[in-house]
Amino acid sequence: MRATSISEGIHWVGAIDAGLRDFHGFETPRGTTYNAYLVRGSDRTALVDTVKAAFVPELLERVRSVVDPASVDLIVVNHVEPDHNGGLREVMAAMPGARVVASGSGVRGVAEYHGGLEVEAVGAGDVIDLGGRTLRFLPVPMVHWPDSMFTYCPEDRVLMPNDALGQHLATEERFADEAGLELALEELAVYYANILMPLGPQVAKAVEKLAATGWGIDTLAPSHGVAWRGEGLARALEAYSRMTAGETRAKVVVAYATMWGSTRELATAVAEGAREAGAEVELFDLAASPFAAVTRALLDSRVLLLGSPTLHHGMLHPVAGYIQYLSGLKPAGKAVGVFGSYGWSSGATAQMTSRLAEAGIAAELGEITVKYRPTGTDLDAAAAWGRAAGERARG
Ligand code: FEO
Repeated sequence: MRATSISEGIHWVGAIDAGLRDFHGFETPRGTTYNAYLVRGSDRTALVDTVKAAFVPELLERVRSVVDPASVDLIVVNHVEPDHNGGLREVMAAMPGARVVASGSGVRGVAEYHGGLEVEAVGAGDVIDLGGRTLRFLPVPMVHWPDSMFTYCPEDRVLMPNDALGQHLATEERFADEAGLELALEELAVYYANILMPLGPQVAKAVEKLAATGWGIDTLAPSHGVAWRGEGLARALEAYSRMTAGETRAKVVVAYATMWGSTRELATAVAEGAREAGAEVELFDLAASPFAAVTRALLDSRVLLLGSPTLHHGMLHPVAGYIQYLSGLKPAGKAVGVFGSYGWSSGATAQMTSRLAEAGIAAELGEITVKYRPTGTDLDAAAAWGRAAGERARG
């Protein structure tokens, strides 16, 4: 395994985790990469970020294809989450002469995570000279954790923004334009929806702070997936600006689970009604759909309609699981309604409304509940409810 050059003085030396299918509950059908970058000056060499602990041998092999790991002088920890910092102790053992730096919060995070490991703090305004090539830093709290930081090499005009602008995409290609720009942009949106959606204001602030630095950027090299340059760079930044602003379109997401088909019939009628009203509709069976895909659809939608039949006086577990998943992501500005069916006892819709309220999401569009199988009248009512939701989405 060899390093890949991404600019004159910077090599990608990360790891490809093609088999990863779950990233803390976020389904990753295309796997991911943990990106690390080797920055070489005439006097010193720096490693920006490490990888998940199990992938340290892969990182070291790639470093070895460029320099002796023992000759590395500096390790930058942009983020303490274990996918980037988990292998730090092993990497430090292979680079015994390296000074290790992180943001102020990162220093505390590294010490706590690794049980007393001491590293140095860097911040905005600090410059580390590698000899003809320098590194600068920009702390960006909550993009994705309090410790998060961007690292910049002005001579190569490369920004290494860690989780920001990342995508869960395992590929041998290192640039979005090589891997397929549309695919990379779609995975950028999936990643944003499932990881950064609740942090939109902090991400927007980080983008403002970055603009205020005046740093010229030709390449954005995140810690997951592919890097952005040229048209891809402009389009990725444009997409981030839309996502952080919470831009939506006339779209309704209908997501349901079903036992004997009644709730599915209602979901279909509701979806048809919303479509008749002129809204775009995405329909998901939550028992068969990755939550990450549903949430990606929700990112730029205006309405969410959730359906469940009643089992033991409550909702089915895929629906309960999805409400729990959403409670952390706090989707803002969505109009929400619930629907469902029951046999001898109702309960699902009331429980959905109550759990959504606990998550801070008001089911303001109300509910539709039917007993046993929906009649033609019930289906007409469901379609009318869907039409009203579609009109709401169209604004
Ligand atoms: Fe890729 Fe927040 O770690």
